[in-house]
This record gives sequence, structure tokens and C-alpha cells, in this order.
Amino acid sequence: NQPAQPAGAKVLKVGAEATFPPFEFQDEKSKEYVGFDVDMMKAIGKQMGVEVQIVNTAFDGLIPALEGGQIDVIASAMTITDERAKKVNFSKPYYQAGLSMVVKADNDTVKTFKDLEGKRIAVQIGTTGAAQARKIKDAKVREFNSASEAYLELKAGGADAVVNDLPVNQYFLTKGGDKDAKLVGEILDAEEYGIAVAKKNTELAGKINKALDELKQNGEYAKIYEKWFGK
Ligand code: ARG
Repeated sequence: NQPAQPAGAKVLKVGAEATFPPFEFQDEKSKEYVGFDVDMMKAIGKQMGVEVQIVNTAFDGLIPALEGGQIDVIASAMTITDERAKKVNFSKPYYQAGLSMVVKADNDTVKTFKDLEGKRIAVQIGTTGAAQARKIKDAKVREFNSASEAYLELKAGGADAVVNDLPVNQYFLTKGGDKDAKLVGEILDAEEYGIAVAKKNTELAGKINKALDELKQNGEYAKIYEKWFGK
């Protein structure tokens, strides 16, 4: 359901694991992909004079898809890490996040990350949250294909906590999750999201950085930020 394009118009294929509101998710009614990353990539595409097409891809399949050429770009709330930077070219950071945890509303034993020792932790596969959870002593880490499945596991009583990106945990809670869950503890780390392109694609990386700078200067970035996160 992409808009018709003039012959020869360039399409930038953007990989995203699109069950991660408010960064990338499917609008229930229109079924369109929406979110902060989607709006940002559309704005970047406009700046570059290309069409943007979202390709919904499993989170742990994004880097392989980029390396295999099925997608041109990853914009999926992906944290810039040294390990990933060995395989991909990251843009400048575009969003400051960090990991946090959600527990059942009536849980008053888990208050800090330290309290997760020996506990059951639900996470999304391939994420920094999964990596951090695995570092917790004796934790039983359950990996799910999406963060929403991890939240469901918490609700069903199969996990004691969900470790996930703070803005996504917050969004989940404000959209009704706070009926039976709550955010606890400090923010585990500082993380920055980057847009990734293939290692060899330094030209595209340069164009994306330039477009990001322009969006910050012309106020477009601030508008998109406000739309999804308020002031
Ligand atoms: N920021 C975390 C990471 O890079 C989680 C990102 C998950 N993104 C998604 N669209 N599901 O590992």
C-alpha cells in the first residue's frame, strides 16, 4: 500500500521491528506504520528526496537483513553499541534512552535491579535489555519476539519483571499497562539510539547525518519529538 511513485524514484527500505511503540508500531485502524522513528525517517527521506518504505523485520534479524542488502537502513530504536558498530555504520545519536524495569503493581519486593537476582525476567530477543538481564546473577531470562509479549508474560505471572527501554516502558504504562504494572528502580544505563546503514555504505551514512542536522536546525525534529513525547 505504498503511494504510486514516479518511475525511477528512489525508495529507501527501512527495517524496523514494528511492535515497539512509540518508536515504531502499526496503527490499529489504518494498519500504517507509525511512530517517532517512522516520522523521523520520512522527514529524512524528504530531505534526501527519496521515498521511505518500512520493512517490518524481527529485531534479531535487522542487522543480518542490512548485511544481506534486503534493507538499506535500520531505524528501530536501536541502541548504539560497540558490538553492533563492528557490523554496521551508525549515524550520530538521535535519541537518548536507557533501560528500566516494570513489575506487577502489587510487587513490593523488587525495587532495584539488584533485587532481580534469581528472578524471572522477560525481555525482547536480541536487545540491550536482554543482554543486561543476562548479567544479573541467577536470573532466569525469558526472551520474546516482541516487547508486548514480554509485558503479557509479566501480566500472566510467568515473569517477575520486564527489562526494556525506558520510553517504551513509560508508553506501555500510560496506554493502560499501569492498571496492573508499574515502573520501579533507577535507570540502568544511558543509551543512545542510532540509525544504522551497511558498513560499506559510508555515502548513505553521511547523507543521513546531514539530513538529521537539517531536521534539528529547521525545527522538524523538535516537532516530531513533541508529537510523540510531549514537551
Ligand atoms: N534499544 C534496545 C536495543 O537496541 C531495544 C530496541 C528494540 N527495538 C524494537 N524496535 N523492537 O537493543
